[in-house]
Amino acid sequence: MDSIRIVGGNRLKGEIPISGAKNATLPLMAASLLTPETLHLTNVPRLADIGTLIKVLEQHGVEASWEPGTLTLKAEDIPNTTAPYDLVRRMRASVLVLGPLIARFGNAVVSLPGGCAIGTRPVDLHLSGLEQLGARIDLGRGYIHATAPKGLKGAHIIFPKVSVGATENLVMAASLAKGETVLENAALEPEVEDLCHCLVAMGAKIEGIGTERLVIEGVAGLHGAKHSVVPDRIEAGTYGIAAAMTGGEVDLLGMRLDLFGAAAEALRHAGVELTETEKGVRAACGNGSLVGYDVMTDPFPGFPTDLQAQYMALMSVAKGAAMITETIFENRYMHVPELMRMGANINLHGSSAMVRGVDKLYGAEVMATDLRASSSLVVAALAADGETVINRVYHLDRGYEQLEQKLAACGAEVERIAEQRAA
Ligand code: UD1
Repeated sequence: MDSIRIVGGNRLKGEIPISGAKNATLPLMAASLLTPETLHLTNVPRLADIGTLIKVLEQHGVEASWEPGTLTLKAEDIPNTTAPYDLVRRMRASVLVLGPLIARFGNAVVSLPGGCAIGTRPVDLHLSGLEQLGARIDLGRGYIHATAPKGLKGAHIIFPKVSVGATENLVMAASLAKGETVLENAALEPEVEDLCHCLVAMGAKIEGIGTERLVIEGVAGLHGAKHSVVPDRIEAGTYGIAAAMTGGEVDLLGMRLDLFGAAAEALRHAGVELTETEKGVRAACGNGSLVGYDVMTDPFPGFPTDLQAQYMALMSVAKGAAMITETIFENRYMHVPELMRMGANINLHGSSAMVRGVDKLYGAEVMATDLRASSSLVVAALAADGETVINRVYHLDRGYEQLEQKLAACGAEVERIAEQRAA
């Protein structure tokens, strides 16, 4: 496996183009199953997860063509409505094919995604929502068997808990259901909003976009569309944190301040200066001093769970202390022991972490078991004294397009070390 070597201490200065959001692209790709016509997606990031979902879609029969930035998907003829275990287990988002398949074809067999490094992550909300739309769901041998021979029927669904994935699956399914569906307590994430805008461009009738009450009037069929993916707020937040931690200043090209939600406030309290410019958002170290500020992760517009690990790296070098509480996933602290190996002072108490700022982090050999944990090690390494080698880079490749190139262009000393393979 490749690793990334970073020599810390350089101030980041320059421009970083922010890619389209991975977490928006994946549901948009699943939406291609709703129509026999072509869906053109632009601003698509070049990431391993996109390739994995293309494989899932191709084995259903979707024709896919992926050129830099552009993804074209055509689901004209879908002979196979089964999403097998060996593909779904590689990426949880594959479960998003369930709603579109059952809505358009009346049946779908999708592997249960199973657990993952950051927690158990159930899909009960997806399944109960589809049942309320009239689908019959049977679980057996690790698979979800869903049928709706007479099609789906609109319903009034109240989510007991905010779920991004369940909202996306249900809004897609409801677009082709008969009659009106109301989704209450829907997720407000910008990626959900982006999906809704794309569905509307495909002919769906959705009201309340961007609110927690979505009203969907089902239509008989959807058509092709062209859609540009919303910028990646997590990528932008990660580089903004890196800029502040290194005492630098970076223009996050294409980013919008509103996409940060409450994270913008938290970062400002912590001493990160964020300003909207003509090109995007500028992130800088402000007065040069970072200070401890407590955060709790929450569904959007709350502080994103996907930025929790990077924020912890920031707090590791801030003045004073900060309490960070994770409320979305129960096991999302794998970065803690690795940050501590770099000199961070962190105490875990259940779902909260008490971070006491230290003067300096030190380079070390580290590794992480999930995407955002890995990116927290990257930002820590950029600010640390000396050399850090981050192993298991494939996690980073799942979520950060051209990470080394983007950081190097702003003055970071960073290189990828290819795995030495035995001859
Ligand atoms: C979640 C994050 C999303 C992030 C993504 C990748 C939230 C609200 N969601 O989305 O921002 O980009 O991970 O890291 O922050 N749950 C159930 N039953 C279900 C579905 C979910 O109990 O059927 C629970 C989950 O275990 C979790 C919470 O609901 O505690 C939110 O999950 P959900 O939003 O569905 O997760 P993702 O869609 O993966």
